[in-house]
Amino acid sequence: MTTYEAIHTKVSMYHQEHLVDFYHELDEHEQQALLKQIDQLDLSSIPSMTAKGEQTNTSITALPSQSALELADQEKAQLYNRGVSLLSEGKVAVVLLAGGQGTRLGHVGPKGTVTMDDTPETSLFALQAKQIQAQQREANVQIPWYIMTSPINDKDTRTFFADNHYFGLKREQVTFFIQDVSPAITPEGKIILADKGQIFQAPNGNGGVFTSMKKAGILKEMKANGIEWIFFNNIDNALVQVADPLFIGYADRDGADISTKSVKKVTPSEKVGVLGQRDGKPAVIEYSELTEEERHHPLLQDANIGIHLFKLDFLYRTADASLPYHLAHKKIPSIATDGTKIDPVEPNGYKLELFYFDVFPLASSMTIFQVDRENEFLPVKNKTGQDSLEEARTRFSS
Ligand code: UTP
Repeated sequence: MTTYEAIHTKVSMYHQEHLVDFYHELDEHEQQALLKQIDQLDLSSIPSMTAKGEQTNTSITALPSQSALELADQEKAQLYNRGVSLLSEGKVAVVLLAGGQGTRLGHVGPKGTVTMDDTPETSLFALQAKQIQAQQREANVQIPWYIMTSPINDKDTRTFFADNHYFGLKREQVTFFIQDVSPAITPEGKIILADKGQIFQAPNGNGGVFTSMKKAGILKEMKANGIEWIFFNNIDNALVQVADPLFIGYADRDGADISTKSVKKVTPSEKVGVLGQRDGKPAVIEYSELTEEERHHPLLQDANIGIHLFKLDFLYRTADASLPYHLAHKKIPSIATDGTKIDPVEPNGYKLELFYFDVFPLASSMTIFQVDRENEFLPVKNKTGQDSLEEARTRFSS
């Protein structure tokens, strides 16, 4: 059992003593629960707000890219068949990131349960399940589907699948696993308490996927089952072609650790992350990192749309790598030093989030497969306006 003294020493070392400010006001059960939460925190990974992460001069360069639209028919057929063979041989698994909170969309329940026409068969989850079914028929195989949820939406996600009979898939081919949580900090770098005996914790960002897969024994299971490629995608693209054989065939022929689908930026000034290299290493480069000249560079026009193929061996090698936290300025319900509750109207702290693409620089190679935006990318991020559910519903009804 963790003792108060041990925890006090731990928090003092990292200047987080306020976490036990209300300890003596709690009952015994609450005290133990708080000590356990603190015990599980990796305080050494909490970013220091005083150390300014000054960007040194980085060099941005392009990566090899192939336009799917420019493939000759014969080559396309060869790559497609190669992808179907790999699926048939059971060498491909699918990992879906569905642990996000979808705050911009403001939908009650997991984002995957939003529908195109009010029926569960047109939910984002169902659309992806249908894609998997289509590829299963094509390759005459059962494709394992791993779905990452969060402690917030896990139960509702499982219930939605069970209520809808796994959208025609076999129960045993769908595995849910829960991502970890991380704390939030004040502008001064202090970890935020949600209540006197409770640390505020939220899903730790989609970059938590690799350690969560490892912890759940999924990487091992995949290896034991002969998986070589992991098709990896977001929940919120209504047109994603899950387990696309053409993409699989392309990735396998190219042999890079990571292959990434992209769409061409609508205009050079579109505010999206592009695929390229930072200091010679594969990366997603944020809009803000690019100079005006780089934004117009003809070879830096590949927008990241969150569709990737990872070699299982690569994830095996990197699952333990510690990725940097990114700070997301948010409204965080908390408790003031005098013990009163704060329900902020303005952002008052920073959630700590990991991004999956921070593993990209660890890859020895990455290649880009540029696809048609019209056919493959319809993001559902907001309720209305650009990249919205409203837009997606209109497309589906036409
Ligand atoms: P977004 O970055 O769009 O986040 O997720 P979100 O939570 O869905 O939406 P907002 O930003 O709160 O409005 C991109 C993908 O990463 C997953 C999401 O489910 C989505 O598929 N994700 C995000 C996770 O799996 N876990 C997280 O902690 C965050």
